[in-house]
Amino acid sequence: MQGTFRVAVLPGDGIGPEVTAEGVKVLKAVEEVLGPMFRFQTGLIGGAAIDATAVPLPAETISVCHNSHAILLGAVGGPQWDTQRPELRPEQGLLQLRQRQELYVNLRPAKVLDALVHLSALKPDRVRGTDLVIVRELLGGIYFGNPRGIFAKNGERMGINTEIYREHEVERVAHRAFQLARTRRRKVTSVDKANILESSRLWREVVTRIARLYPDVELQHLYVDSCAMQLIDRPTSFDVVLTNNLFGDILSDEAAMLTGSIGLLPSASLGERTALYEPVHGSAPDIAGRNRANPVAAIASAALMLRYSCRLENAAEAIETAIAKVLKRGVRTPDMMGKKRAVSTSRLGDLIAAETKKLLKSRKSR
Ligand code: IPM
Ligand code: MG
Repeated sequence: MQGTFRVAVLPGDGIGPEVTAEGVKVLKAVEEVLGPMFRFQTGLIGGAAIDATAVPLPAETISVCHNSHAILLGAVGGPQWDTQRPELRPEQGLLQLRQRQELYVNLRPAKVLDALVHLSALKPDRVRGTDLVIVRELLGGIYFGNPRGIFAKNGERMGINTEIYREHEVERVAHRAFQLARTRRRKVTSVDKANILESSRLWREVVTRIARLYPDVELQHLYVDSCAMQLIDRPTSFDVVLTNNLFGDILSDEAAMLTGSIGLLPSASLGERTALYEPVHGSAPDIAGRNRANPVAAIASAALMLRYSCRLENAAEAIETAIAKVLKRGVRTPDMMGKKRAVSTSRLGDLIAAETKKLLKSRKSR
């Protein structure tokens, strides 16, 4: 990486600001060892933006993002905005940002840490060693297809959404999945509903064709219902899970529960330009502003930024190791509690930042 790396920080709603601050804190700790490299600029998104400007993605935020190398986002949404018109809901801010930045692939790693294996909803023996990545298509499918809307016909209202996949949309996300598999255990599970849906039949055909370009990677197809079952039954058998926008949304929440807390999972949304990094969890309005949210997903998202946007694998890996080490010591936010005493969001952030610095310094002096 050369020169200053510009990061757009969009804290958003609920616990978003608290956890994003911890992500930034850890990036600043990295700078303390490796030298100054970031310039942070904040912007409004979601409900916070609606309150201040009446829209979920203001022009100023769009321009901050356009001028940045990467975007760190917290979370959007909350009950106070549930009555907004659909196009003015907080979630629209995020969907519009994904579209504007052409972020067509969403990586959601779910790894069960040994220290937290007992937190999983599943028995330790079943879930230990789980290490998978969901590769979710992010710009197509039923989220964006037309026609959509609520219409009246013959005196009755009907809601319509349309699932559409074009070949190139499947091709580009499939390439990403196979390339990622090459850096891992070389197995791709493509998830669809090809027994019922035409969009899935095309999906399966295209993925099968792209797979021929990666003969060293094993490809398996699963129907989404069967995949939902097997994620619980034998989670360790998955490596890279490639799937569409809607199935990826659902399966990634399921995968989160394998790891014990949704507060642990980071994500990266990538296209050809500025990438976006955010926790998989939502804005958790019930615990917002109380310094008790889990900052790990936000901190791990910052690590993904270092890996994919800054190409600083060493620093990314240092943060991930720091997270695992601190959790191993038994430090927990309330969502991860066993019998031990809980620490606050900012305290857990401090400890991970300190451990990251220590790891980076010791590597530097070697
Ligand atoms: C996610 C969220 C979003 C989605 C919402 C907030 C738009 O659930 O990132 O998983 O459905 O994609
Ligand atoms: Mg979701």
